[in-house]
Amino acid sequence: MIVRTRSAEETRLLAADVAGVVRSGDVVLLAGELGSGKTVFAQGFGRALGVEETITSPTFTLVHSYRGRVPFHHADVYRLDQLQEAIDLALPELLDEGGVALVEWGDSAAQAFSPDYLWVRIDLDEAAGEECRRLTFRPVGPSWSARVKALHHALAKWSGTEAAP
Ligand SMILES: Nc1ncnc2c1ncn2[C@@H]1O[C@H](COP(=O)(O)OP(=O)(O)O)[C@@H](O)[C@H]1O
Ligand SMILES: [Mg+2]
Repeated sequence: MIVRTRSAEETRLLAADVAGVVRSGDVVLLAGELGSGKTVFAQGFGRALGVEETITSPTFTLVHSYRGRVPFHHADVYRLDQLQEAIDLALPELLDEGGVALVEWGDSAAQAFSPDYLWVRIDLDEAAGEECRRLTFRPVGPSWSARVKALHHALAKWSGTEAAP
């Protein structure tokens, strides 16, 4: 599933649409180079989950947890062991309090991770324009596979040649 955005604000709005299909215990893995827009995505996603605090990059703490309608855990990691550590940190709350975790991951090799997450990759789309991005969605594992239709529906308005109304 590939969609496109033409500005940071469009990426925030798209992420808010994705937040509409997440549930307690969900993990979203966000891949893409530095500056592709992962933190921007996290901002729109968290805002849609009811987070009022400003969402910034949790580079030094590995994981930032926010209060929203559900706890929102935002992580930014570079190595596989950090990815595991971030999930381990967030997992108790994910299970006990119905939180949602979003992990910024500066690589595309998250396949090594336990297969139950929504994988999203953000790429620059320079041919289309400086502020254009291409977002690839891949539901991984049973809980996400069951929601492919809902995800399609949430992304429908972003999948045409016109990025947004
Ligand atoms: N379509 C777009 N989507 C997301 N960010 C965009 C877009 N166009 C331009 N930008 C800019 O790109 C930068 C992305 O930064 P950031 O989200 O911190 O990247 P990352 O977390 O992937 O390193 C921001 O300065 C943002 O304003
Ligand atoms: Mg970032």
